[in-house]
Amino acid sequence: MKPAYSITLDCETDFDGWRKAARALALTEVQPLDVTWRVRGTTPEPFEPSASPLEPPHGAFSVSAKFVELAQAAILHRDGERFALLYRLLWRLRGDHDLLNVATDPDVARVSAMAKAVHRDTQRMQASVRFREIGREHKSHFVAWFEPEHHIVELAAPFFARRFADMPWSILTPDVCAHWDGHAVSITRGIDTSEAPTENRLEETWRRYYASVLDPARLKANALQTGISRKYPRNPQGSSIKPLTESAEGLPGAMIANAATEPPMRRKQAADDIEILREEAADCRACPLWKNATQTVFGEGPQAAEIMLVGEQPGDKEDLAGKPFVGPAGQLLDRALKEAGIDRSKVYVTNAVKHFKFVPRGKIRLHQKPNTPEIKACRQWYERERAAINPALVVAMGATAAQSVFGKITPIGKNRGHAINLDDGTRALVTVHPSYLLRVPDADAKAREYQRFVGDLKIAAALLRKSARAA
Ligand code: URA
Repeated sequence: MKPAYSITLDCETDFDGWRKAARALALTEVQPLDVTWRVRGTTPEPFEPSASPLEPPHGAFSVSAKFVELAQAAILHRDGERFALLYRLLWRLRGDHDLLNVATDPDVARVSAMAKAVHRDTQRMQASVRFREIGREHKSHFVAWFEPEHHIVELAAPFFARRFADMPWSILTPDVCAHWDGHAVSITRGIDTSEAPTENRLEETWRRYYASVLDPARLKANALQTGISRKYPRNPQGSSIKPLTESAEGLPGAMIANAATEPPMRRKQAADDIEILREEAADCRACPLWKNATQTVFGEGPQAAEIMLVGEQPGDKEDLAGKPFVGPAGQLLDRALKEAGIDRSKVYVTNAVKHFKFVPRGKIRLHQKPNTPEIKACRQWYERERAAINPALVVAMGATAAQSVFGKITPIGKNRGHAINLDDGTRALVTVHPSYLLRVPDADAKAREYQRFVGDLKIAAALLRKSARAA
């Protein structure tokens, strides 16, 4: 028997359309097997209209914020069955409210994997889009080409609008293209892969696309033809392409703020594999810093490291590279470690806060100090890293690191240069942050402070030798 209902969604990312239809179907008691789902313009229109038109729904039912959040992400997956799968899950959830907690359930597992893949792809896009400046002689515009695995362009666009707020840009993709004019994000049709720019042909592709789709004289006609010219307001946070965690229905903003101040702390630390932790942390949303950062910058170094060095947070270079201490502070740290006789490749290097915090100033991103809720929200990762590495010594560099390592504000001046026992007996040492040394204005004072820093690292090396002899 043919399914009795055929639902046509406006576009691949039409979550609102899916939600409206799913709600009406569920309230009308339409079984999942009795529905087919399609996206307008992708498959032929159904030969016959729905045998039974959907009645406007009466009554109400609610679903958890967790489901909405999951569905908003999973619907962006490229799997053609996602609409049907999500409706089946919704249908089943009505009779089994705890179903989402059953990770082994095939529908739950599949939808969760889809949502994860979408988040990964979004991060890949955030980390790998590189703009090229075009038309410098007239009015510059920044253009990038990207091939997403899933339908993530609208989801990712607000990130680029915040990050590159001061420059007009376009991201061209085969699905849709996103544009920022300094005021609003707009979405227009994609570029066929057969027309994808090769090597240095981005400018050519851009000009062709501009002429056929964006030229103001033709824009109106094109919008009508393609049905895909969508505009989003200047503050992309307020647009309908909100980040997933914020747009979850029924999830008040306060819950997000609470997450930042009260991170889920693990009571007993189980030793995780550091690579698994890294993967988990890639999706961290415990505080709002992930929104503007390129990626989570997790710790790096051997799991068997004897020393764990903790800094404050990734800087501009680290944010782009996805690795801690690779910028100017990292170079100074490398030099000091060498002078202290410590091999950096044997050390586990991490930060108290794993996302870059900054304010944009033109093309520059100005570092901002993380606040206490952000440090607390991120502390779960430091704790799990420490449990996984189980170092003989933790070196906290600077006030933010010391606050994370000791779980409270710990002044550097009073505590630096000698071993302090942490609650579980691990030894810790406090010293200044390498960036502080870069900022000391007076050359003599700078050299003195640097030598003190090297001295602290030498104490760390000596403590290690001592603990090795005692073992
Ligand atoms: N400063 C830090 O605290 N960490 C880095 O990774 C880089 C600079």
